[in-house]
Amino acid sequence: MNRRGEPTLVEQAQAVLQRNWTGRFTKPSPRLYPYQWSWDSAYIAIGYAHYDLERAQKELRTLFAGQWRNGLLPHIIFNFSRGPRVYFPGPDFWQTRRSPHAPKRRRTSGIVQPPIHATAVLRVYQSANDGEQVRPFLAEIFPKLKAWHEYLYRERDPYQEGLVYIRHPWESGQDNSPIWDNALARMELKSEQIPAYRRVDTQTVDAAERPTDSEYDRYIYLVRMFSERNYDEAAIWPDCPFLVQDVVFNTLLCQANRDLAEIAHILGEDGRLFIEWADQTGYAINQKLWSKTDRIYYDYDLNSKELITEPAVAGFIPLFAHIPDQTRAQNMYGHLNSDSFWKMGDSGYPVPSYDKHAPKYLPNRYWRGPVWMNMDWLLAQGLEHYGYQAYADALWHTIVELPKHHGFFEYFDPRTGTGYGAYDFSWTAALLIDTLERKPHILAEIA
Ligand code: SER
Repeated sequence: MNRRGEPTLVEQAQAVLQRNWTGRFTKPSPRLYPYQWSWDSAYIAIGYAHYDLERAQKELRTLFAGQWRNGLLPHIIFNFSRGPRVYFPGPDFWQTRRSPHAPKRRRTSGIVQPPIHATAVLRVYQSANDGEQVRPFLAEIFPKLKAWHEYLYRERDPYQEGLVYIRHPWESGQDNSPIWDNALARMELKSEQIPAYRRVDTQTVDAAERPTDSEYDRYIYLVRMFSERNYDEAAIWPDCPFLVQDVVFNTLLCQANRDLAEIAHILGEDGRLFIEWADQTGYAINQKLWSKTDRIYYDYDLNSKELITEPAVAGFIPLFAHIPDQTRAQNMYGHLNSDSFWKMGDSGYPVPSYDKHAPKYLPNRYWRGPVWMNMDWLLAQGLEHYGYQAYADALWHTIVELPKHHGFFEYFDPRTGTGYGAYDFSWTAALLIDTLERKPHILAEIA
């Protein structure tokens, strides 16, 4: 409480997480996302680690209880929770029990999300005053993290390039980014190919802030295809219409490998394999995904065999894992710190998720323009590493200022700060908690 008896900003953030806490895991938001989501839980655990270590560990334990026997860590675990549980596609649509690898006692989706989990686990350990307290958790989760990374390199890297593919836009976590437009447009679906379904997301959130129906048709078509092929990767990838080597996914995997090596070191295990993976993936990102002319990294479409030249904030995220050298980082910074994204001193908020001057920019529609707290959080850490402290500070301020003035929303308008999408959004709260723990002075600096 502050001197006037009102909850402080950190207490407000903790209250958001408390409202979404179910006893075993935290919902990303009360209505729109009523189950457990994979990369959301990782960010949420990073927030909890600063004030409730037990809960941070429980969050990740519950997530990994849904892991498949082949190591796949599903993007949704349909754990039971109280409150509204209307979601589509739910477990009956996914039908993941068609796979021999899916868990028998838990219902899950059959796709994944960016692998930031080893990073989250290491941060939980580092947040503890007494590391010994968290060591049993580390020992318990280490083989699961290893199986997760092994799955990605074994099943998702058929040409053994050190770059893993995603096979659904949802796997990127950036569902309707313009990055996927061409690949989705190539999927010319006849109406009889589209499964009968009814969206429920647009009953909770304004349809103008969510993906379009045409995008949803393709999302759902892909899910049906995976389930018809029993989630057998060998049967899916050869003719999967969506197959992309994604910058954010591979960057987070690169960093997660280094963090897994660190976890191995703490446990007295051999971590050399994870360093090899990290090096191989970092190298491949630099070799294959860098655009010198555009000063940004791009995803690669394995079907059209070309870079997807869409200017999204995602293309700067390799800074987080220190993948570019200083010269490249400087070039990237010149692009980021420009009218296209957000120039230091500009009005509005950094960083729009898509180039403000590109024709497809939409400041209120999910991943086609709005500011997202996780992107700012990743980018701020990367920029600090390369010495761009003033820009990083602007991002740290934004992570605190937007929820303070506009509420704990899912995403925000880069011009006005207006919040969109789900309210009481857990990772917005968790990353604010983490930011104020690292940078407590920010609170006094923002109006
Ligand atoms: N993000 C997707 C949704 O909006 C699925 O993960 O439901």
